[in-house]
Amino acid sequence: MRRAAVVLLALLGALTACAPVENGTAMTTTVIPAPVSRADGEGAFTLGHDTVIGGEGEAAAVAEYLAQSLRPATGYQLPVGALGQIQLVIGASPAPGGYTLDVEPGGIRIEADAPAGLFAGVQTLRQLLPPAAFGREPAQADWSVASTSIEDYPRFEYRGAMLDVARHFFAVADVKKYIDDIAMLKLNHLHLHLTDDQGWRLQILSRPALTEIGASTQVDGNGGGHTAPLYYTQDEYRELVEYAASRFITIVPEIDLPGHTNAALSAYPELNCDGIAPQPYEGIEVGFSSLCIGKAETYAFLEDVIGEVAALTPGPFLHLGGDESLATSDEDFLTFIARVTAIGAATGKTIIGWHEMGRSAELPAGTIGQYWSFVRPQSGAAEHTLSFVEQGGRVILSPADVAYLDMKYDPTTDQGLVWANGPTSVTESYLWEPTEVIPGLSEQQILGIEAPIWTETLRTIGELEYFAFPRIVSIAELAWSPQNSGTAGARFDDFGDRLAGLQPRLEAAGITYYKAPDVPWRD
Ligand code: ACM
Repeated sequence: MRRAAVVLLALLGALTACAPVENGTAMTTTVIPAPVSRADGEGAFTLGHDTVIGGEGEAAAVAEYLAQSLRPATGYQLPVGALGQIQLVIGASPAPGGYTLDVEPGGIRIEADAPAGLFAGVQTLRQLLPPAAFGREPAQADWSVASTSIEDYPRFEYRGAMLDVARHFFAVADVKKYIDDIAMLKLNHLHLHLTDDQGWRLQILSRPALTEIGASTQVDGNGGGHTAPLYYTQDEYRELVEYAASRFITIVPEIDLPGHTNAALSAYPELNCDGIAPQPYEGIEVGFSSLCIGKAETYAFLEDVIGEVAALTPGPFLHLGGDESLATSDEDFLTFIARVTAIGAATGKTIIGWHEMGRSAELPAGTIGQYWSFVRPQSGAAEHTLSFVEQGGRVILSPADVAYLDMKYDPTTDQGLVWANGPTSVTESYLWEPTEVIPGLSEQQILGIEAPIWTETLRTIGELEYFAFPRIVSIAELAWSPQNSGTAGARFDDFGDRLAGLQPRLEAAGITYYKAPDVPWRD
């Protein structure tokens, strides 16, 4: 037995020596979000002209994604076939959403029970390659991956980013870039805040004035260099949903109701209690608009809008807002929330609402609450959030003082806001624990974590990225990685070191980021 093992080892050694390119010097690179477990080995696998990426059936599309992501920089053809030196396999996962990744000199194997897990494994593999792998131009590099064995799975099933396309509009190409940016961090939901006082950004065929009139403005007028219309046609929206799905990201559409509705009110006079349409709005105040709660026209409007949005949405969630309805009386608010959530639930979707929606005790079972108060809850916020759990739902955490990416990093940052206890440093965005925010809210009751970016002061994809990176990496790690029980200092040291490892990758990928002073950047 012992002798057989020795022979087998010798054989493996010989195979290793015959591996396409043998290289024992590949740098060990860090991975962010941190994987659950990792054991590094000896030697390295090196990509070459003859490398084939293997993946059949459900694995084929992920294999093709990996090939596409590596072809431009390596210049290799990287054909996708049934069997390759890099093999993607549908098999077992260590836990839902997870994968195993094994790198040996002779090849790389990623295994998961579903394509989403393979995709997460592929994102890890991209980080194990030299930074130039993230580039879109041919680059000279030693395309080696040091031997390692990783077992990994997410802590929370919902890992999100939110993009406000209402205050400033972001064209399809910008949103696709943001989707690619967040896919790299294993985020799997993109919540689009599609409507607000300053603009209605999604074409609704039965209500054309919503975009003809309601999308005519944005904050400070039609700025940001846009010449095209400031909304998505339904075809463009479908294109975004499909693009996101190809990166295993679910789009969550939000129609914010009953406040934050000046754009809708400006388009359809009958939605106003006095029947008079207000002017389009270009400022940044909140809390002044409301649909007319007592009118039948309001609910006919909601049936039309929610019906079309649900039909455009293959994902399970429909976000109906409910925040800052300061121009709606308490009684009207409760009447409205019961009615609008029933209309939403009748489409078969699971409703999400900002935590104020939890003031209602008549939510459809399973409605998800999105918490946006602070890490130390302000009055009523914790109670309203727990109301979702009492009604059979779960919670998405977006504490504004740590997870709102549009807060200034420091007082000198030109753009950005400060109302949520800002400025918010990278350290602050990382050093909080999801289960400690709302007393009585358990880990199992937390569906996940989401990092919103509001765009009152942000106009371009570069500005978005600058505010998102690197704080969005903090949120992604809190959502994906196991709870780390070290001291705050040790935790941030470890995170900061891995964030610094991401720096050349962000640069190769053309992602704009803020060189925050609390991160030990490498250059
Ligand atoms: C919010 O920040 N009003 C959700």
